[in-house]
Amino acid sequence: MIRLSDVSRTFDGRAGRVEALRGIDLDVAEGEFVAVLGRSGCGKSTLLRMIAGLLPATAGQITVAGTPVTRPRRDIAMLFQRPALLPWRTVLDNVLLPVEIFGWKRSKYRERARDLLELAGLGGFEKRLPHELSGGMQQRVSLCRSLIGAPRVMLMDEPFSALDALTREELSGELQRVHMTSGATVVFVTHSIDEAVLLADRVVVLSPRPGRLRAVVEVDIPRPRSLGRNSHLADVASVSAELHELLMERDAPAGPAPGPDTRRTPVGAGAAGR
Ligand SMILES: Nc1ncnc2c1ncn2[C@@H]1O[C@H](COP(=O)(O)OP(=O)(O)OP(=O)(O)O)[C@@H](O)[C@H]1O
Ligand SMILES: [Mg+2]
Repeated sequence: MIRLSDVSRTFDGRAGRVEALRGIDLDVAEGEFVAVLGRSGCGKSTLLRMIAGLLPATAGQITVAGTPVTRPRRDIAMLFQRPALLPWRTVLDNVLLPVEIFGWKRSKYRERARDLLELAGLGGFEKRLPHELSGGMQQRVSLCRSLIGAPRVMLMDEPFSALDALTREELSGELQRVHMTSGATVVFVTHSIDEAVLLADRVVVLSPRPGRLRAVVEVDIPRPRSLGRNSHLADVASVSAELHELLMERDAPAGPAPGPDTRRTPVGAGAAGR
């Protein structure tokens, strides 16, 4: 569904050239949930903005559903770290914004917008303005907005990082439900190991400066998952420990050779996709 071939991005700023990402190869299958995990500044947002068509790659190619990405597309939705709602529009009108931007028929989407808000626990808030809502509620509105066009691809840039732990877990649960029922392909950027293990089928670990693909780790734990008490705690702990090690690793290009029982996919062995 999403294919990155040897994708690099550099920025030329006043202070010189920054190599943000180098030689990223990645395949994300249709319906897959991939988390991109890495430290601050390793190029996660840059990667996502390139997939969204908001930023061109300086080298390499990105395709979504077989066609090269050159600009934002209606079948790709993006959710940012901050809610980014228009302050003068009501909750309902914010959710309907993509409908206007893409020139879809408003009457056809109004009911869907109400249903999404209801599902997100925002029934009755349709006529409120963003500043009348809490941060978590605003981010729910953004989530509804990103879902309004039933996107095939959802790109999420640390969407829950500004929220308290419980709200975050609640929204993660909602996101899992949406993903399971819609079959959308999701790329979810995070610096939280817990969040990656909770949500992802595979976790892509980036190393910093320049951002490179360090490893891809499978998370083979049945859904729906939760952070609380569950019967897979041992699996969660072992994947988390592995991801922690990968994040802490110094810049050995692809890490040491994987041991016999590791789920780590060595990068460069052509196994980053499936
Ligand atoms: N528009 C830009 N101009 C110049 N440099 C940029 C620009 N955008 C990003 N960079 C640089 O590219 C690198 C990667 O930035 P990016 O925002 O992708 O990191 P990140 O992994 O999303 O970090 P964080 O976890 O803090 O959000 C950084 O060194 C940053 O300074
Ligand atoms: Mg970022």
